[in-house]
Amino acid sequence: MFITLEGIDGSGKSSQAKHIARMVRGIWKTDNVILTHEPGGWPGGASLRSTIIKSHFENPWTELFLFISDRCEHVARVISPILKNGGIVISERYNDSTLAYQVWGRCLPEKDVRTIINVAKLPEPDLTFWFDVSIETAVKRLSKRGNMDRIEQDLELLKRIAEGYRMLWEKNPERIRRIDANGDEKFVQLQLMEELRKYVKRKCSCQ
Ligand SMILES: Nc1ncnc2c1ncn2[C@@H]1O[C@H](COP(=O)(O)OP(=O)(O)OP(=O)(O)O)[C@@H](O)[C@H]1O
Ligand SMILES: [Mg+2]
Repeated sequence: MFITLEGIDGSGKSSQAKHIARMVRGIWKTDNVILTHEPGGWPGGASLRSTIIKSHFENPWTELFLFISDRCEHVARVISPILKNGGIVISERYNDSTLAYQVWGRCLPEKDVRTIINVAKLPEPDLTFWFDVSIETAVKRLSKRGNMDRIEQDLELLKRIAEGYRMLWEKNPERIRRIDANGDEKFVQLQLMEELRKYVKRKCSCQ
């Protein structure tokens, strides 16, 4: 089982990740659950993460290929081994981030980006939580944290990325479940629990 967490910076993915892992362990009654993240969520991935986050790229394809390279290694070394062994993977960010950031954010052609994702033969998530937060709330939270990165500082870019996530959700509401991430952490947790329960129900009624 492969779960991904998506949303703009400051939407609350990292804050909820450990709670989701706890809920998943309880529902599926297993300890074979790992929490991971992109970019850089594989052994040796920290330097690529730092390059991606801190660099300015003249050509948007450079950024795309770096994210895809990072993901290929993440899948090969972390995600696939756990999935093959029957475990549950929860990843902060995955393919939907590439679509939202590179297609809507950087205006690369969707068809080409999807082709590259498909060529890389990356596993599809079973379930994705989209943390839908307003730009104002996200920026307020991030400015409290300090050190806003190069993407977080560009409001127009953030707005396009948020729109991208909305479009992705509208196209695929079955896999991508929208979470209203504007409220407090408890409110967000309750929605996540509800969505996990609904997922289990849907799966049971299909079998
Ligand atoms: N529901 C919430 N209510 C209030 N503050 C929150 C909530 N969720 C997260 N925060 C705070 O907002 C900040 C950003 O949250 P978090 O780091 O979880 O976001 P993120 O989606 O993981 O961001 P990034 O994409 O930058 O990693 C943190 O300081 C966190 O404590
Ligand atoms: Mg985070």
